[in-house]
Amino acid sequence: MTKDLKDKVALVTGASRGIGKAIAFKLAAHGAKVIVNYARSSHEADEVVAKIKADGGDAIAMQAKVNDPEAVKAMFDSIEKAFGAVDILVNNAGITKDQLLMRMSDEDFDTVIDTNLKGTFYCTRQAVRPMMKKKYGKIINLSSVVGFAGNAGQLNYIASKAGIHGMTKAVATEMGAKGIRVNTVAPGFVQTEMTDVLDETIKKSMVDKTLLKTFGTVDDVANAVYFLASPMADYITGQVIHVNGGMYL
Ligand SMILES: NC(=O)c1ccc[n+]([C@@H]2O[C@H](COP(=O)([O-])OP(=O)(O)OC[C@H]3O[C@@H](n4cnc5c(N)ncnc54)[C@H](OP(=O)(O)O)[C@@H]3O)[C@@H](O)[C@H]2O)c1
Repeated sequence: MTKDLKDKVALVTGASRGIGKAIAFKLAAHGAKVIVNYARSSHEADEVVAKIKADGGDAIAMQAKVNDPEAVKAMFDSIEKAFGAVDILVNNAGITKDQLLMRMSDEDFDTVIDTNLKGTFYCTRQAVRPMMKKKYGKIINLSSVVGFAGNAGQLNYIASKAGIHGMTKAVATEMGAKGIRVNTVAPGFVQTEMTDVLDETIKKSMVDKTLLKTFGTVDDVANAVYFLASPMADYITGQVIHVNGGMYL
């Protein structure tokens, strides 16, 4: 395994399970010092850190709700003290609260926008200042195939993910001259706790929509994030990489 992220500090939000956990393992395996952020699952985050350390890597768990700007600022301050400034930010933390438009409450709309879209904004805003000083930084956002294709019953989630596509272009445009690359990975249907709650008919219809006729894995997504974080992708910014088995062309 190449250690091409050696000396890099990587913050992965929502890394206690699912896709974020796989990203944390992948970046650590390539030599990054990883901050395993979580909101509630401290035990699971500690287990991710323990596994990274057992495999010879370096990591620390850090609690902060990405939808709380004060907590986000405090997390970045603590990271800087413990490890130095963040070089690679992966805005992965995300939630769903699915409901059809006519039944969607203000609260369910706001909660999803606050975590997925505003959380990405709060973390990005904190990350860029030291990145600008270093004239180097990688910001990788997680969106979703439904942010392009749409889907019934997910308007809050889809609005948050489509917003991330716009934010990616806006921040890439502002920050390109400072050496900060901003990209997004848009997964299709990946088996995690987020999708485990869906009923079998929906899961089958999602798989049927792919050209490859299979679910994606958390590693499929982590590989794309690692590619963007690595020097191999240094000339890529403002882009979306689709990892969806051909679900949306
Ligand atoms: N799974 C899919 O099929 C799929 C498809 C497309 C896109 N995505 C995107 O990929 C990302 C990861 O999805 P996943 O399936 O791995 O989700 P997941 O299994 O539900 O994990 C979500 C993670 O986010 C954390 N989190 C939730 N709210 C948070 C907050 N306010 N602050 C900080 N962390 C918070 C959770 O930590 P706690 O347990 O501590 O709350 C957990 O670690 C999300 O952005 C999702 O939208 C997933």
